[in-house]
Amino acid sequence: MTAFYAHAGLVGAAFGLVAAGAAVARFARTRRGWLTGHRRLGLGGAGSAWLGSAFAVGMVAGAGGGHLGSPHTWLGLATLVLTLLTPALGQASFRIRGKAALLRTIHRWSGRATLVLMAVTLATGLIAAGIV
Ligand code: HEM
Ligand code: HEM
Repeated sequence: MTAFYAHAGLVGAAFGLVAAGAAVARFARTRRGWLTGHRRLGLGGAGSAWLGSAFAVGMVAGAGGGHLGSPHTWLGLATLVLTLLTPALGQASFRIRGKAALLRTIHRWSGRATLVLMAVTLATGLIAAGIV
């Protein structure tokens, strides 16, 4: 049960952090230091999602079940992929100068997709746990 609470708590926190990071990019971009805040919140959220998912893997292993056996777990995996891709695109837009505008556009959409997919994964997790 501890692993379940760790999973739910950490991925819940991940969603809060990623949403706060996206809100900074959307609504506070005129403030000094917005990019640092945006990066830290996004990366903190991504880290929390990975750590929380590690607890889920432990939980499933402890229950003796097969891994990645339900729609929630597939959505979880897709969310984790996006939590790597989105920050990489944001970072790449500062490294690959010639393609900065294109990479930023893709990053913005990938960031929005990360948020939406995370919300759907959270909802299916609540269903998988029998909470709703
Ligand atoms: C999981 C992590 C991240 C998420 C979910 C995320 C999401 C977003 C979103 C949704 C926007 C657009 C906001 C809007 O205008 O509606 C945005 C903008 C931006 N992000 Fe991120 N971001 C993340 C990490 C990063 C990182 C690591 C960097 C690296 C420096 C970065 C750099 C930027 C920049 C420069 C913009 C402004 C792009 C523009 O409008 O030209 N982001 N991000
Ligand atoms: C963004 C949010 C979430 C992510 C990225 C995520 C990720 C994952 C992953 C990757 C697994 C698969 C573990 C394995 O097969 O070894 C899993 C399983 C599971 N997760 Fe989540 N999860 C999220 C939210 C939630 C929430 C909010 C709950 C419930 C409160 C939850 C409950 C469960 C349960 C009960 C399992 C066991 C497998 C099942 O019954 O489908 N998850 N999660």
